[in-house]
Amino acid sequence: PYYKESYNSSVSPEDAKWEFEREHLQLDTTLGEGEFGKVVKAKAYNLDGKQNYTEVAVKMLKNCASGVEQQALWSEFNLLKDVQHPNVIRLLGACTQNGPTYLIVEYCEHGSLLSYLRNSRLEENGYVNQRYKPSKHISNPKEPPELLTIRDLLSFGWQIAKGMKYLSEIKLVHRDLAARNVLVGSGKVLKISDFGLTRDVYEADTYLKQSKGRIPVKWLAPESLYAQIYTTQSDVWSFGIVLWEVVTLGAPPYPGVPPERLYNLLLAGYRMDRPENCSDELYAVMQKCWKTDPQDRPTFSKLADIFDRMLQQRT
Ligand code: ADE
Repeated sequence: PYYKESYNSSVSPEDAKWEFEREHLQLDTTLGEGEFGKVVKAKAYNLDGKQNYTEVAVKMLKNCASGVEQQALWSEFNLLKDVQHPNVIRLLGACTQNGPTYLIVEYCEHGSLLSYLRNSRLEENGYVNQRYKPSKHISNPKEPPELLTIRDLLSFGWQIAKGMKYLSEIKLVHRDLAARNVLVGSGKVLKISDFGLTRDVYEADTYLKQSKGRIPVKWLAPESLYAQIYTTQSDVWSFGIVLWEVVTLGAPPYPGVPPERLYNLLLAGYRMDRPENCSDELYAVMQKCWKTDPQDRPTFSKLADIFDRMLQQRT
């Protein structure tokens, strides 16, 4: 009964806790853009009682978005309310009244893991494939490439495994785990992001997808491809692809394979080769993530332990 006047009756007490005044948000440059949505950098004044402003990222829909996308943004809002882990993007607030829906999340200064990996490539290095150099607007072109060590790459695997372990514990299946959907904050802290496709699985531990959307074929487990079965164990398959992206510094998976041929290749037992500069040990982890039987794949808890151990061995 004590909500501010501007909150109309459609704001539940639960949402009022998150509501942030639109007027206190100063939108700045676009950080990322999809077909129906975009993420804009912004200054949020007096967020959480702060005297000045906080740099934030604001997720919103484009004008062309339909009810389906609106729903996806709301479901992301609802899911993000409950997640709290250092390796998962944190919700800071939302503007749900008197205008377009905005989700306010923490700003990650290095952008997506995919662009960060690609930026870390050295031009002179024979390992670099110029085709994959990111376009200028994706990342900050003024910054020199940050050279990454093997230790950094292992830490990335460890952090993503820990974030995913947390999500699986609260029974969330991500369904779109990929380097493009992981963000890099200060201190090279990774944050799992993009929950638009995520569904919770409080009852069954399998989510059956209802309708066909845009499908990230090359990140999907075979059972997701042929039966739209999404589980934590299919997220583990995607995690294996992300490891491949990490160790190749952001190469596109299954180079040269047309997406429509992938399913038969996987069924026939085909898997990506060990990338250059990838240890046998790390490749063995990927291969375990790509077992045909979901139950044969390691859990995220196991994966977090494996990376923990690999990192310890290197100190
Ligand atoms: N791009 C998309 N989301 C972002 C965020 N939270 N921080 C920085 N760049 C982003």
